[in-house]
Amino acid sequence: MINVLVIGSGAYVSGKNSKGFGTILPSLVEGTRQKIIDKITIVSKHSSSYKEFQKKVNTVQRISNVKLKYDWYLKNGSNEMAYKNAIKETGKNTVVIISTPEHLHYQMAKFALEQKKHVIVVKPLTLTTKHAQSLIRLAKKNNLYAVVDFHKRYDLTNLKIYDIINSKKLGDLLYIHVEYSQQKNIPLKVFKSWVQQTNIFQYLGVHYVDIIHFVTGAKPLRVTAVGQKNFLKNNGVDTFDAIETVIEWKKGTNTFSSTFLCNWIDPNNTSAVSYQSVKFIGTKGRIESDQKNRGLQLVTDREGIEDINPYFNQNYTIENNVFFKGYGIESFLQFFQDCNLIFEYKKSPKYFDNIRPTFSNSIHSVSVIEAVNKSLKNDGKWIRL
Ligand SMILES: NC(=O)c1ccc[n+]([C@@H]2O[C@H](COP(=O)([O-])OP(=O)(O)OC[C@H]3O[C@@H](n4cnc5c(N)ncnc54)[C@H](O)[C@@H]3O)[C@@H](O)[C@H]2O)c1
Repeated sequence: MINVLVIGSGAYVSGKNSKGFGTILPSLVEGTRQKIIDKITIVSKHSSSYKEFQKKVNTVQRISNVKLKYDWYLKNGSNEMAYKNAIKETGKNTVVIISTPEHLHYQMAKFALEQKKHVIVVKPLTLTTKHAQSLIRLAKKNNLYAVVDFHKRYDLTNLKIYDIINSKKLGDLLYIHVEYSQQKNIPLKVFKSWVQQTNIFQYLGVHYVDIIHFVTGAKPLRVTAVGQKNFLKNNGVDTFDAIETVIEWKKGTNTFSSTFLCNWIDPNNTSAVSYQSVKFIGTKGRIESDQKNRGLQLVTDREGIEDINPYFNQNYTIENNVFFKGYGIESFLQFFQDCNLIFEYKKSPKYFDNIRPTFSNSIHSVSVIEAVNKSLKNDGKWIRL
């Protein structure tokens, strides 16, 4: 069995400021139920976050009928470096989850790897290729398993797209079209404290950069991006409302492009938190994938129209106990299982290099983010990778 240290306790960990439980807490429940996880420690910046976290844990324990062995590390005050001692004080079989604002991923992952911990980081891995490469070297040197939570790789739709593209049914790829957007609430409320240090492409668009690399095996060649500052700037948040990006890719002798249209100023009453769709167009065919409309719509007096994605992270009641299932959960469960294999069955971390979104397997997503940010600062200039 493994122990888990979680850094961060916000929206993605526990559904802070929402009705839900986030994605990481439900994954810890399933990992505990499957007897992969023994103890859990949470370290956040503020001790005051404990109350809301404890309420969420009490509820998930009750509905799932799974008892978590957990401890809250920072008992008093605030300390943004508390994660360091928390990591140092963990035992040999403890693995680390990093779910904090994006600009902190590098320093936290670096420290965890230096302390010889296997680690999973929510996307984006880092904001620069230099940082990502130094983490890759460190993981290799210390023989550690280091992965990014690119959970869309576990979505059955994307796994099917992988098969279709690799069977060559589409012929040579010509272009890919991605639309991905979220509600205004996200930059205005959920990420209020750190929104100005990110943008919609590096926070959201990056998922499909990884998916394009995953399903095609192609490498990005050059990038151009432009954006608009309007609604958010007028509401006191200095970040782009929307970013449009073109990435040119190469696989063997085939060159193709992808267009990304991303925003986070959709109305708060859209029927799902995200609009997301992707199209692949090749010389012999096309794929159309609406990843918002999964065929399950709920209409109620209280909530209006909701398009439910049953594949991401949902509660399912089976014989009176709630189980958490979906590709969001699977990404973390896979990490727990892999770490367990490393500890109990001496599997080498190297084994996972080409089959999981390891740091080295995620490097293209970082180089594209960095290039997009450069292009945005340079009036949409093409940036070569
Ligand atoms: N919300 C989502 O749907 C979602 C989905 C996938 C990935 N993510 C990623 O997860 C990460 C966190 O997002 P979130 O939605 O949970 O944000 P959030 O603002 O709700 O939570 C951030 C958490 O990080 C903690 N934190 C900040 N500085 C810290 C420090 N120095 N030490 C310890 N803890 C610290 C905060 O206390 C808070 O608990 C981001 O990288 C985001 O891109 C979010």
